[in-house]
Amino acid sequence: MKVLGIETSCDETGVAVVEDETVLANLLASQVQLHERFGGVVPELASRAHVEALTPLLDAALEQAGIGFGDLDGVAVTAGPGLVGALLVGIAAAKSVALATSRPLIGVNHLEGHILANAVEHGRDLVPAVCLVVSGGHTMLVHMPEPHRYEILGQTVDDAAGEAFDKVARFLGLGFPGGPAVDRLARHGDPNAIRFPRAMADSGDYDFSLSGLKTAVLRHVKAERDAGREVDAADLAASFQEAIVDVQVSKTMQAVRDLGVESILLGGGVVANSRLRERIDKAGAEAGLRVMIPSVQLCTDNGAMIALAGAWRLERGERSSLAIGADPSMELR
Ligand code: KG4
Ligand code: ZN
Repeated sequence: MKVLGIETSCDETGVAVVEDETVLANLLASQVQLHERFGGVVPELASRAHVEALTPLLDAALEQAGIGFGDLDGVAVTAGPGLVGALLVGIAAAKSVALATSRPLIGVNHLEGHILANAVEHGRDLVPAVCLVVSGGHTMLVHMPEPHRYEILGQTVDDAAGEAFDKVARFLGLGFPGGPAVDRLARHGDPNAIRFPRAMADSGDYDFSLSGLKTAVLRHVKAERDAGREVDAADLAASFQEAIVDVQVSKTMQAVRDLGVESILLGGGVVANSRLRERIDKAGAEAGLRVMIPSVQLCTDNGAMIALAGAWRLERGERSSLAIGADPSMELR
């Protein structure tokens, strides 16, 4: 089944064509340069940029896949969660293609896309698994007992991990988005240089809290500067990153033990983080678990994950009405 996938929930326009779990085309128009000078995503600018990027991307994706609109079996689009105006641009485009080609439309949950992106490299057989989903808007642990069934074990009570990366990076003057910059800088630093708090590490549940860590970083830098000392940015980045990764790895391992599953599955933009990948791989291997992590391009927002998740749902006979709207706070269930 050949399915078109459109992703416009935030600041990346993604258009892809998949055939089952094979990616035929996966194109991205990044808006990083547009939002960079504001230090974050400006919703109105994002919607407008999606409008401009979509038509050329659609043509290019079909050309790369070597097919025409008539060869599609369905159209998948991110219906939420995300920025409402940005989502609506993708939804309008997807409806047009579905209507013009008389192909079924399916609205996809962005977070399910992040989770199922794993199927591209790890195959269809993903369940049962504990999923760690970490992005710019979400930080959650999810139990996936069977395909398309999600039980939320816990989530952040304040900031998402990606948000913490972005805020600390902005404070350090590393630019936007901050995650990749902190990751690069941290490679030259000592993760044990500064002992930042591991919030909720021993809370006995699967929830996370990230806002205190961000404050601790700011406070540390200020205290050092006030004392006339220069802060080593690489040590700071590595120590901050380690505090986040420590809690994420330990809570994921705890969930796996509690639920007795044998697979760990990661998804979301923050999963591009090299330290998180390394630590969870190691912890999983030591415990004899199967660890599934998408390649970096499939961790950050993309159209392929939406096309794939949509294809699976279409295959089950699910359809969305041409009247669907955007759901900015859509829940994973
Ligand atoms: O999934 P995603 O592309 O968009 C959302 O759904 O939010 O995630 C974006 C987030 C940003 O906060 C970005 O800084 C973070 O993922 N990110 C990273 C890395 N690459 C992207 N965080 C840490 N390390 C990275 N290498
Ligand atoms: Zn995302």
